[in-house]
Amino acid sequence: MTAAPAFPDAKRLAVDAYLEKIDFEAVPQIDRLVEAMRYSLLAGGKRVRPVLALSTAHALGHDPSVVMPFAAALELVHTYSLIHDDLPAMDDDDLRRGKPTCHVAYGENVAILAGDALFAEALRLITANQAGEPMHVVGAMDELLAAIGAAGMVGGQFIDIDEQVDNPGALKQMHELKTGRLIRASVRGAAIVLGTPTRQVEQLGEFAGELGVLFQIIDDILDVTGSDAELGKPSGSDERHGKATYVSAFGVEGARKLADESYDRVRGLLESIDFRGDAGDLEAVSAYIYGRDR
Ligand code: IPE
Ligand code: IPE
Ligand code: MG
Ligand code: MG
Ligand code: MG
Repeated sequence: MTAAPAFPDAKRLAVDAYLEKIDFEAVPQIDRLVEAMRYSLLAGGKRVRPVLALSTAHALGHDPSVVMPFAAALELVHTYSLIHDDLPAMDDDDLRRGKPTCHVAYGENVAILAGDALFAEALRLITANQAGEPMHVVGAMDELLAAIGAAGMVGGQFIDIDEQVDNPGALKQMHELKTGRLIRASVRGAAIVLGTPTRQVEQLGEFAGELGVLFQIIDDILDVTGSDAELGKPSGSDERHGKATYVSAFGVEGARKLADESYDRVRGLLESIDFRGDAGDLEAVSAYIYGRDR
């Protein structure tokens, strides 16, 4: 096997630097809220979603930094979703990004509010800072909001807690919603900000939708095969909570085979797109996501 291309670290570092500098306009009374928001945001996630947005701009022949506010917004939304996902009423996990979860460090009430605030601040990054034709910026915002609403991530999280997933079709649908939609919006949203023709946005969406499903299949496998230290979150959490996952449905080997097939489709879809710029980083992120479990 040839070595997978390395994760685009320069883009990840650029994202980290931008997130670090976000000004939440804190007045002294809300210092602890902002501290909780920054605690989770800057705890060192992989930054897959913003890096995908920057890599999409790169592939489309644009300067990636143009879409940075949109990219950072994705990470704020993702962090809010993790804070709420870990709450006692949800997955009840106490470790995230290698640190005690937000509610363990700051209390459940503050963690709920930190998530709420990150969500709103994410939208403000776009409305206040994202350059581009207003119609394109609103289009990207719509893409993001549709991806995380009732028929998107939150809907997927609902299906997850509602425990009605009892067949492979329902499992795939849950993965598409809870994880796939935000990953798809990371790629499509960046393309939309840049005024990319609809046909290419659609092609990118097909690629990224599949990549999102692959991402969650690998996450399910790692929950079983990874260690707390490797994952930065508690391994075995899904089984403890009786979650329907690709591993509970197909076993580790079965899930790996489905990941192989999904990755083949991801590569095929990416190769079929005719890019003006360099798609190397989109390829590298895909290889990284697939390779996390190997
Ligand atoms: C974890 O996402 C939650 C899922 C959608 C599976 P990541 O694996 O991207 O977590 P971070 O951002 O690197 O912490
Ligand atoms: C969560 O899926 C997806 C989100 C929308 C946050 P998981 O519950 O599998 O994520 P982890 O494993 O806790 O990161
Ligand atoms: Mg969960
Ligand atoms: Mg969880
Ligand atoms: Mg998981």
